[in-house]
Amino acid sequence: MAIPEILQKILEYFKMPMAMDMFKLAGAGVVTVGAVTTATAFYYLSGMGPKPLPEPVDLEYQTIEQNDGSRISGLNTDGKIKETMYEDVHTLLEAFQRGARVSKNGPCLGYKPSAKEPFEWITYDTVLERAQHVGSGLITLGQAPENSTRVGVYSQNRPEYVISDYGLWSYSMVGVPLYDTLGAEACNHIINQAEISVVICDNNMKVKNLIKRLAETPNLKTIILMDQIDGESQEQAKQAGINLLQFSELEKLGKENPTKTNPAKPDDVCIICYTSGTTGIPKGAMLTHRGSVATSSSALHQVAAGGVDLGPGDVMISYLPLAHSYERLLHGVIYMLGAQIGFFQGDVRKLMDDIKELQPTLFPCVPRLLNRFYDKVLTGVNSSLIKRFLFSMAIKSKEGELKKRIIRKDSIWDKIVFKTVQAALGGRVRLITTGSAPLSPKVLNFLRCIVGCPVLEGYGQTECHAICSLQLCGDCYIGTVGPPLSCCSIKLADIPEMGYFSRENKGEVCMKGPNVFRGYLNDQEKTDEALDADGWLHTGDVGQWEENGSLKIIDRKKHIFKLAQGEYIAPEKVENTNIQSPLVAQMYVHGDSLQSCLVGVVVPDPDVLPNYCSEKLKIDGSFEELCQNPEVNNHLLANLTELGKKSGLSSLEIVKAIHVYPELFSVENGLLTPTFKSKRQEMAKFFRPQIEEMYSKLG
Ligand SMILES: *[C@@H]1O[C@H](CO)[C@@H](O)[C@H](O)[C@H]1NC(C)=O
Ligand SMILES: *[C@@H]1O[C@H](CO)[C@@H](O)[C@H](O)[C@H]1NC(C)=O
Ligand SMILES: *[C@@H]1O[C@H](CO)[C@@H](O)[C@H](O)[C@H]1NC(C)=O
Ligand SMILES: *[C@@H]1O[C@H](CO)[C@@H](O)[C@H](O)[C@H]1NC(C)=O
Repeated sequence: MAIPEILQKILEYFKMPMAMDMFKLAGAGVVTVGAVTTATAFYYLSGMGPKPLPEPVDLEYQTIEQNDGSRISGLNTDGKIKETMYEDVHTLLEAFQRGARVSKNGPCLGYKPSAKEPFEWITYDTVLERAQHVGSGLITLGQAPENSTRVGVYSQNRPEYVISDYGLWSYSMVGVPLYDTLGAEACNHIINQAEISVVICDNNMKVKNLIKRLAETPNLKTIILMDQIDGESQEQAKQAGINLLQFSELEKLGKENPTKTNPAKPDDVCIICYTSGTTGIPKGAMLTHRGSVATSSSALHQVAAGGVDLGPGDVMISYLPLAHSYERLLHGVIYMLGAQIGFFQGDVRKLMDDIKELQPTLFPCVPRLLNRFYDKVLTGVNSSLIKRFLFSMAIKSKEGELKKRIIRKDSIWDKIVFKTVQAALGGRVRLITTGSAPLSPKVLNFLRCIVGCPVLEGYGQTECHAICSLQLCGDCYIGTVGPPLSCCSIKLADIPEMGYFSRENKGEVCMKGPNVFRGYLNDQEKTDEALDADGWLHTGDVGQWEENGSLKIIDRKKHIFKLAQGEYIAPEKVENTNIQSPLVAQMYVHGDSLQSCLVGVVVPDPDVLPNYCSEKLKIDGSFEELCQNPEVNNHLLANLTELGKKSGLSSLEIVKAIHVYPELFSVENGLLTPTFKSKRQEMAKFFRPQIEEMYSKLG
């Protein structure tokens, strides 16, 4: 539909009585519409249409194939992987120094001293200077200025966090982020495994928690606190023999005892990023300066090639945890550019207020947040018929433009319909990035339309410094994660047991390049699982190359094992079928290549089983008693067998014996990951006696 026609339609609608509401809602009313009409007429008369985004590479050929079958970005026209975009930048410290130079010592870190006060900014040079003080202070406290020194940082995002990081890197030391969501036990494990004796933390509560668990972390000697130390912390630290120091005291100490810097080298580890795996304790991924620079600068390179030219005037809102590689990557990009980072106040409920005030141009997101945003906008739109009508017309028009690679926020629809949504994000957003989990294409497209800026989805994992592929700005299509970043090559490795073969352009996503991590701290076994002998990082994700060279993630390499007959079994499929029975709450299916059949552990649904037993089987008793009752066990097994047959499981996929267990698998009892996935190895270990008994009975 051409714009004049749309205008006509709107004006018609505005004549209807109901439309008067819309006027009030739109605020500006007639004036806006009038102005837009003139502007639109001008556009049409002058023939100046909106410009499409540039094509960074031929969008039909986004990758270049290498001799070994792997692919690199089409942006690497010389056929070589790029390590950095800037000759003089090979470490995060050098990236920061570049930012200081190109921004001419511009504002770097912004924070709100209190809810009522406006953002205050710390300049690049001041950050560097304070970082040196922090580093010198730590050296004065006895830390060695070497790459074997590891210091814990346990804080929400705020300026002192960044200052601490750069303080460490000014003296080649390594930062180890600690964070709460991993749980207390994991935190202890990190402090011990990384041999941390100093933790820099943000608030008194964390100090008290650290002191409370001191028996399990005997190495810990010093805590530096960013907030004002309270009397209780002071007292507890004294009793525990902990050296508790104010962050400002540390800075003062360093200022008075300056030490010559020992800047980190490219191959030094910059941080050890602990991630919760699907098995047991967290693993400490060793990320390097070289890798961080490679990833940040390739991402930047690609975004710039796509027409989004970020620079010192750009501002990012920082609220996603710095303990994660995704936020780290973005910080790297910002400092390299000499741009600015504004920190949220630390309270997610105030995030939208902080955003409105900061007016960021770069808005990093995760799908969880964007989905909520999407629902909220739609709920608002659904509140009236007229709004819904206008909204759907507006979306249609902008989707049409999207197909022509036009993304903008100066169309009539932006002025009339999307203005409030855009204003809620501060009104200046030029780029939204999303990562950490897949975003539905529906939401992605919706955002591109209503926010009027590119929304880029990256794909990767901590082990490759957050991302290894990124959508191209000019590629307005959806459903793929773009070509590899300039810093790595990606290949798809055969997974015969799942029927994926590289010759069909499908397989496990594997990558190689300076962005690949160094391994897990003190864990050769896990490192060898992730990195093969040739240096390829195996992701466990199944990808597919599209005709045009963009990568699509289509599956996840499953837990698969062979039974003794040589048949492959995907236990999760069996579990998912069985838990459809109303009697079953949770299930773990076990098998291995020494056995010729499957057995399972079933947790019945405590709300369903007792009634069912009493009515159908005439068996009464407590939930625990029912779980131990052989008759109930037999009945459950028969129920699952029948369900399996009905659902089309093969006879090998049907469990031949079950153990009925009364307690739900949970994060607390160590059988689920924090994201509620089964820890299969833990399950196998935990239920080993029962599993062995079942197999021995089956003979
Ligand atoms: C420390 O530096 C040495 C020499 O440059 C290097 O070989 C080693 O990998 C570095 N270790 C870490 C943990 O960064
Ligand atoms: C809005 O209305 C549409 C159409 O009636 C419906 O499909 C959608 O689920 C509604 N969305 C919300 C968030 O209420
Ligand atoms: C690349 O190919 C995929 C699959 O055919 C498609 O979804 C996507 O839109 C294509 N991208 C471009 C820019 O043509
Ligand atoms: C299993 O038991 C449930 C609960 O009564 C019942 O609804 C279902 O039909 C049974 N399924 C089979 C296959 O027997």
